[in-house]
Amino acid sequence: MSKTIIISNRLPLQIKLEENEINVSPSVGGLATGMKSVHEEGESLWIGWSGLAEEDLNEETKPKVLAEIQKNHCATVPLTENDVDHFYYGFSNKTLWPLFHYFLEYTSFENENWESYKRVNQKFADVVLENAEDGDTIWVHDYQLLLLPQYIKQKKPDTSIGFFLHIPFPSYEVFRTFPWREEVLEGMLGADLIGFHTYDYERHFLSCARRLLHLDTNFNEISYNDRIIKIDSFPMGIDFDKFYNAAREHSKNSETEKSDIQKKLDDHLYASNEAQMILSIDRLDYTKGIPNRIKSFEYFLEKYPEYQQKVRLIMLAVPSRSNVPQYQLLKRETDELVGRINGKFSTVSWTPIWYFYRSLPFDNLIDLYTSCDVAMITPVRDGMNLVAKEYVATRVNQDGVLVLSEMAGAAKEMNEALLINPNNFEDVAKTLKMALEMPKDEQKARISVMQERLKRYTVEKWAQEFFTALNSTKDVINTLVSK
Ligand code: ADP
Ligand code: G6P
Repeated sequence: MSKTIIISNRLPLQIKLEENEINVSPSVGGLATGMKSVHEEGESLWIGWSGLAEEDLNEETKPKVLAEIQKNHCATVPLTENDVDHFYYGFSNKTLWPLFHYFLEYTSFENENWESYKRVNQKFADVVLENAEDGDTIWVHDYQLLLLPQYIKQKKPDTSIGFFLHIPFPSYEVFRTFPWREEVLEGMLGADLIGFHTYDYERHFLSCARRLLHLDTNFNEISYNDRIIKIDSFPMGIDFDKFYNAAREHSKNSETEKSDIQKKLDDHLYASNEAQMILSIDRLDYTKGIPNRIKSFEYFLEKYPEYQQKVRLIMLAVPSRSNVPQYQLLKRETDELVGRINGKFSTVSWTPIWYFYRSLPFDNLIDLYTSCDVAMITPVRDGMNLVAKEYVATRVNQDGVLVLSEMAGAAKEMNEALLINPNNFEDVAKTLKMALEMPKDEQKARISVMQERLKRYTVEKWAQEFFTALNSTKDVINTLVSK
């Protein structure tokens, strides 16, 4: 029976070693949380990296790790410490991530990292080829594996390959600065269908293929190596029911069933009947605009002092890529800003910012989503942003306000949110005030429209549409192969 093979750098489970015991937790990030629902629904094999370097494993731990991976219908690609340094931290996160998010000043171009990137993409191809059978559908994900479609296509030309990019594809003016631009485009063009979150990213990709590879494009199709490749946009959804139902169950929790975090959140609300809470959740990443958000909140408290002692910013920053210097600097800047603002405004009974630098279990995430009156999601650049969608899905009473950056892919589908430019502190502060003062019926009108849309276009629907489009390219492959 043919199967689907999902391939991404990060598996949906994250494995850590404590002494000789393994500790398993869900991976954080839009790709992992979204695709996890798709993987759990069907018969698929997920190939990716366990998060551990080969050198970290020994005779006792390796079989345990492999068993855990197998139990989750996954297979692993072994990476050495050198691969982790040069492929993962190096090329993926010091070159592609900043470049594709328009952070040119953070982008490094190191040949050693590029060589490692090619080698590791080849390692992934070897594992895929060991596991793939005729008729299987192959779905490659994200910027860590841009060369993989081509490596697979060269060995298995009649396999149908889809590729989805979870981050922005930058404009031609940015992409042209990249030393390995042609190789990377050719790598992606090994796929039969290439998907992006938004039409703009799709348009940028088509323009790069035309201008850098001089390829013919016909609407959203590219002719390349006697093949037709389809390019399209598929905005990723969420598992709406999972978030909605979890929030509904959560609202029934008795006092004894409440988590410590929930009790603390309740304390703030009980302190005054005018108290309100603002939520901010992200991986600690410079693309998420965390310092700007904190500074806008400071500006808000100064401009509207009547809100001091009344609002609290609840900020969850999940540790991410902490070996990359820019992430370490961001951590320091965030700590300092939170410290400075709390020092400046706190009273004996009130701290303006509650800051968690850690990963929290799903139930606590629901505590945060359901307790906060406003979600402030203000990335400076973001491929999609699923947190914005999850917040809306958990509003079972259809109250709450989403303040969302125009620079998030999600903004394209969430017009009923209050959209802001995260670099305009004045605008953010005013919008925050508007959000905190929005009448309930207006909140309801906005949230209900967004919920309807999220219910219709779930992550399952997103995957189905991608597969339908990919299957339609299969007919083209069959015709070409039989010629
Ligand atoms: P990115 O993919 O850049 O991290 P997204 O907002 O698209 O940004 O996705 C973040 C995902 O990570 C969301 O699905 C969110 O639920 C999940 N997440 C955030 N914080 C945690 C956490 N502490 N534990 C588990 N998952 C988390
Ligand atoms: C984003 C990327 C994913 C990545 C995730 C977490 O969502 O699009 O590819 O897995 O961030 O980052 P990490 O480096 O921990 O895998």
